Amino acid sequence: MKEQLEAIQAEALERISQTEDMKELQDIKVAYLGKKGSLTGVLRGMGKLSKEERPVVGEIANKVREVITTAFDGKSEKLEMARLEQQLEAEAIDVTLPGRPVKVGGPHLLTSIVEELEDLFIGMGYEVREGPEVETDFFNFEALNLPKDHPARDMQDTFYITNELLLRTHTSPVQARTMREYKGEKPVKMICPGKVYRRDTDDATHSHQFTQIEGLYVDKNVRMSDLKGTLDTFAKKMFGEEREIRLRPSFFPFTEPSVEMDISCKVCNGAGCNVCKGTGWIEILGGGMVHPKVLEMGGYDPEVYSGFAFGMGPERIAMLKYGVNDIRQFYTNDIRFLKQYHKA
Ligand code: DAH
Repeated sequence: MKEQLEAIQAEALERISQTEDMKELQDIKVAYLGKKGSLTGVLRGMGKLSKEERPVVGEIANKVREVITTAFDGKSEKLEMARLEQQLEAEAIDVTLPGRPVKVGGPHLLTSIVEELEDLFIGMGYEVREGPEVETDFFNFEALNLPKDHPARDMQDTFYITNELLLRTHTSPVQARTMREYKGEKPVKMICPGKVYRRDTDDATHSHQFTQIEGLYVDKNVRMSDLKGTLDTFAKKMFGEEREIRLRPSFFPFTEPSVEMDISCKVCNGAGCNVCKGTGWIEILGGGMVHPKVLEMGGYDPEVYSGFAFGMGPERIAMLKYGVNDIRQFYTNDIRFLKQYHKA
């Protein structure tokens, strides 16, 4: 029986050392130490042994069991380590590889232009205000000296929501709102950027929705020359120190006198080319001295206060500054167009 046990041990150790497979290793364990295993089988036969032999064989059998168990545990650990190692290698992340570039967005060209204009006017002492895009007929028209049925209302084809509510056609209503808020008691110096809406058919130069920046300065002794100086500063900062401006007489119901401002064409420097249609000048904005009626409706005494106002279109400014030839480019979000204007 002793030889039998030794043979079992030798065979088991040999098989354990040969295998490289965890499943097979488990099977080997069962084959020797399991309920129907060969070692268990031998131990069962111990009943037939004499009293003297039993403890001796029992001790050997226990030793064999121990040796096989130790060998099994050792091999099991080795195989598990090898498996882990393999897995780690297979799933390894190379942290030294260069990172994949991530596409970073930037402000829209219009946003950049509006921010540039805001900075410019804040530098001249203006505050930045906002007003509602759904506006009343009163603020959009009447408070700006455009009573109902005034023919100049035709200049701005309007989206009406009800008889009294509309989508604002310009940012000028914020003039009236600000004056009323300031109750005729203190000077007003504000700009208002924002979206405006017109019932226009979209094409290269028209959009049913676009942006404007309104400007209003009301104080004692504000003169036309203040308007001219302000617009000159704006033109030179925005389009270059070499630019000249000129004011042409025009008409807006909310200003008297009214002007339109041109800048000298930067393509031909005033000589005349196809950009300025041969005139040497390019129209930029409208403005003028605030009409006494508008001051009065805003709560300012026109005998004491005077002011100037202006309104410009950031799309037009961006188009002229960067040579964009279709206003729809600002709204169709072609990434190839937009990313040309991303500042790093
Ligand atoms: N609101 C005018 C428009 O949309 C632009 C404008 C002209 C605004 C003259 C003004 C102004 O404040 O004084 O066409």
